[in-house]
Amino acid sequence: DLTLRKLADKNNILVGAAVNYSKLSRDSTYRSLLANEYNALTIENDIKFSRVHPIIGTYDYTKADAIVNYAINNDLKIRGHTLVWHTSNPDWLQNGNFTKDEMIQILRDHITNVVGRYKGKIFAWDVVNEAFNEDGTYRDSIWLKSIGKEYIPLAFQFAHEADPNALLFYNDYSNEGINPKSNAIYNLVRELKGKGTPIHGIGFQMHFSVNSDINYKKIEENMRRLKKAGMIVHFTEVDVKVTDLNKLPIQLTEQAVKYGELFNICLNSNGICKAFIIWGLTDKYSSSASAMPLIFDKYYKPKQSYLAIKNQLINK
Ligand code: G3I
Repeated sequence: DLTLRKLADKNNILVGAAVNYSKLSRDSTYRSLLANEYNALTIENDIKFSRVHPIIGTYDYTKADAIVNYAINNDLKIRGHTLVWHTSNPDWLQNGNFTKDEMIQILRDHITNVVGRYKGKIFAWDVVNEAFNEDGTYRDSIWLKSIGKEYIPLAFQFAHEADPNALLFYNDYSNEGINPKSNAIYNLVRELKGKGTPIHGIGFQMHFSVNSDINYKKIEENMRRLKKAGMIVHFTEVDVKVTDLNKLPIQLTEQAVKYGELFNICLNSNGICKAFIIWGLTDKYSSSASAMPLIFDKYYKPKQSYLAIKNQLINK
């Protein structure tokens, strides 16, 4: 039978899911479904700062290593998520009292260590995550406070030095259309490219519900301008939540329509969008399980949303 994976390979696009060690290590159905249906995965939580670097200078790669080895054994491409974020940081960092120079050193050590460990294995990194507010101003964070907005080019530079072949992404939410946040990101890209900072792509998280009003024309417009600025795009965290269990049959159909439309604009973007990653594998383990946001149900059965994506690939 034709799997998403086979169809995706043929169409030169990555389809994947975000995964966690806690499930991957215990659930063989989860492992086989993932490897059969997808050609990529994102490490959802196990490589975040608080997880791999819980004590200053001490790294714990047990879980991340297990996911990476699984992915390599099953020939799945790996997205690393995420190196620099305002949250999910360990206490020593979040509540530490470091000088600017010390914070730059911490940033350098962390990125050098983590990216270096997976050099040649993790092909794409979300280097900086969610650095802007909705109005396009820089989001307050330990990094902005201590280093200033220079923390962004520094992070990309350190990542590039640790793995010159890795694709380096800026990742955010509500940045797929045209709005103050996506304008700020576009301007940042132009500024970074202008001074030779190594940045290769923009991640659109794409967390939605069945009620979201998605302007596909604006997404395409944004992708076009990013391409002109030298970027590729990944849809990095796609999900579509149902909102009303009393309207379930209809909402699952609406969910499928949205998944199909979202996949369509990635698949038919003339090569700008190269990956479509869903924020989880099965509704069974979704952190918002009652919202059933994914394309396999809690029994691991493909939903209408799965078929909607598959049909896009078959009809391409
Ligand atoms: O595994 C522990 C469990 O042992 C413990 O009992 C429990 C009590 O707090 O926490 C569990 O860990 C939680 C983990 O999710 C696993 O469920 C963490 O507290 C919780 O912070 C963590 O949340 C994650 C969140 O990012 C923060 O890092 C979500 O799983 C993850 O889906 C979410 O992902 C983010 C992206 O990184 C960035 N974009 C938005 C996206 C969705 O919110």
